[in-house]
Amino acid sequence: MPAIVVVGAQWGDEGKGRVVDWLAREVQLVARFNGGDNAGHTVVAQGHTLKLHLVPSGILHPDLVCLIGAGVVVNPERLVVEMDELAALGVDVGPSRLKISAAAHVILSTHRALDGAREVARGRGAIGTTKRGIGPAYADKAARVSLRAGDMANPEQFAERVAETVRGHNRSLQELYGAETLSPEQVAAEYCAYARRLEPHLADGSALVGEMLAAGETVLCEGAQGLLLDLDHGTYPYVTSSSTVAGGALTGLGFGPRYVSRVIGVTKAYTTRVGAGPFPTELLDEVGDRIREVGGEYGTTTGRPRRCGWLDLVILRYAARINGLDELALTKLDVLSGLERLKVALAYERDTARPESGRRERTEVFPAEFGLESLARWKPVYEELPGWAEDISEVRSRDDLPPAAREYVGRIEEWVGVPITLIGVGPEREQAIV
Ligand code: IMP
Repeated sequence: MPAIVVVGAQWGDEGKGRVVDWLAREVQLVARFNGGDNAGHTVVAQGHTLKLHLVPSGILHPDLVCLIGAGVVVNPERLVVEMDELAALGVDVGPSRLKISAAAHVILSTHRALDGAREVARGRGAIGTTKRGIGPAYADKAARVSLRAGDMANPEQFAERVAETVRGHNRSLQELYGAETLSPEQVAAEYCAYARRLEPHLADGSALVGEMLAAGETVLCEGAQGLLLDLDHGTYPYVTSSSTVAGGALTGLGFGPRYVSRVIGVTKAYTTRVGAGPFPTELLDEVGDRIREVGGEYGTTTGRPRRCGWLDLVILRYAARINGLDELALTKLDVLSGLERLKVALAYERDTARPESGRRERTEVFPAEFGLESLARWKPVYEELPGWAEDISEVRSRDDLPPAAREYVGRIEEWVGVPITLIGVGPEREQAIV
């Protein structure tokens, strides 16, 4: 049963790329199953820091194949840039190593323009998207009017359809948002060039995954974003437009659940969020600022400062349930070194319908389905734990962690009910406790 699924257990940016890069040494295929170039996966290897948005994080391992799966929306312009950057570092990104599912959908320049225009129109209710055209591209996919990567197999015909689609998008840009339009001919010419370049990489993605699984090879399914950005199970509408949970690996790549042997949820040792929307454990004080600076918490894709807060175990328990987590990977534990006291949220509390009773309602279940207003009324209940002052970046065994750090890790396992099998103690590939 050789499919391993790696998903984000929070709001994205948990360090999944790092975990995928680590696990990739034991697999034959790394397949990305959702999202687009809204994702930013930082991988540090051989002294180089690579920011990958579309190419799966396993690409640095020469002996495996990487697939951009059917569930992904592909911005060809970004993909070509990334391939060139990798090639310049001597990484093989030829068609035998990097494949694009013909069923993946294509992001057009006008999807990006529409994303920006819709955000402006939302005003104070803006989602804070990455403006990469993700929402409009998935909307066109669901409306069955989108172009798929497989259409690039015939570049001239593809270009014609691009021009036609851009004309339709232009009408929306102009009439609905009073925004600037793009030249259909110019976009078509650009996309014709991308099609010529990418056509050799097209593959029947689900057949490839199926064949490898049937042959007993190991497929690593790489998720982008995280649980609370999931279209169905996240903090809607402050979510992305794809399925970011373990189930998304099955639909986004096209294989059945019986092949899944491990589901790994990645979480930071604290919580971050980019963009708008609720965040119960957010720290708007100097502790939050300190975490942002020490942890380098600025968006990989947009450079925006990330909102930072304490670790929320209510969220992690929700992640364990929705994804069926077998394991947790805990990243950036070193960022907490030097904080005197740490807090973790164990539950949420709110006033009852009759506040005069003086009683409070308590839940340990993330209140996901009743909307933002309901979520806003819940306040976290914290447990305080001692911090540690020691630098832990050279620690390679859990037993060698300072006692307070061991307690912190142990408390997470206990509360979430899932073992932590990997702990990140620094940005380098080897700075991990396995
Ligand atoms: P979109 O995916 O660009 O439509 O953005 C929707 C929401 O998801 C916004 O709050 C973004 O900040 C957030 N988001 C999208 N991709 C990522 C990611 O890779 N990491 C963290 N947040 C993300």
